[in-house]
Amino acid sequence: MLLISPSILSADYGNLERELRRLTEAGADMVHIDVMDGHFVPNITLGAPVIRCIRGVTKLPFDVHLMISEPLSHLPDFVETGADRITFHVESESDTGETVDAILASGRQAGLAVKPATPIETVYPYLDKLAMVLVMTVEPGFGGQSFMADMMPKIEKLRDECARRGITDLDIQVDGGITAQTIPIAAKAGANVFVSGSALFANADLGAAIARFKALAAG
Ligand code: DX5
Ligand code: ZN
Repeated sequence: MLLISPSILSADYGNLERELRRLTEAGADMVHIDVMDGHFVPNITLGAPVIRCIRGVTKLPFDVHLMISEPLSHLPDFVETGADRITFHVESESDTGETVDAILASGRQAGLAVKPATPIETVYPYLDKLAMVLVMTVEPGFGGQSFMADMMPKIEKLRDECARRGITDLDIQVDGGITAQTIPIAAKAGANVFVSGSALFANADLGAAIARFKALAAG
């Protein structure tokens, strides 16, 4: 299933309630929320208190992308916000297996993310437990960067590995530089969940933009 998860990193943080209503009306499938700690990545965004405050605005699933050094120790805060899917980085300092298990024990879906330089094989030991693998198509930290097409072989490899193991329901998410030009490339490689920040929010008519992105992904 092809899903669009707009990143609120490009939304108006002063009007998050309005922005979430816009996304809901526009037909977004999820809301991508980027959490950065200024340590794992060189930027700071928002944390659990803000997510908790906006949770009641929409019924859309919250797709929380943790770009933080110690996801395991902060996990209870994010679980408590009502996040539906919690994705953390395999490069973080927390033990990957323990963190996946803790997310599942909390009743949330687990996602595992890889930075551009990280081999996709690092996620293989956890595939049976994951709802999603996030293949970063930019260096995490900032919106508005250019899509790295050289990440596509990682997605193809992961789809092959899933097929080999009979895993049919793993979501493969791409995040970074997703535009009308790049979404067909990522879809063709096997990605099915598309995060987009700057390219989507540049459109006054978000509904039309989301529909167009979906049609382009479908090919
Ligand atoms: C980058 C974030 C992305 C970001 C994408 O570290 O993880 O979610 O918002 O922004 P665009 O779509 O502008 O590349
Ligand atoms: Zn993200």
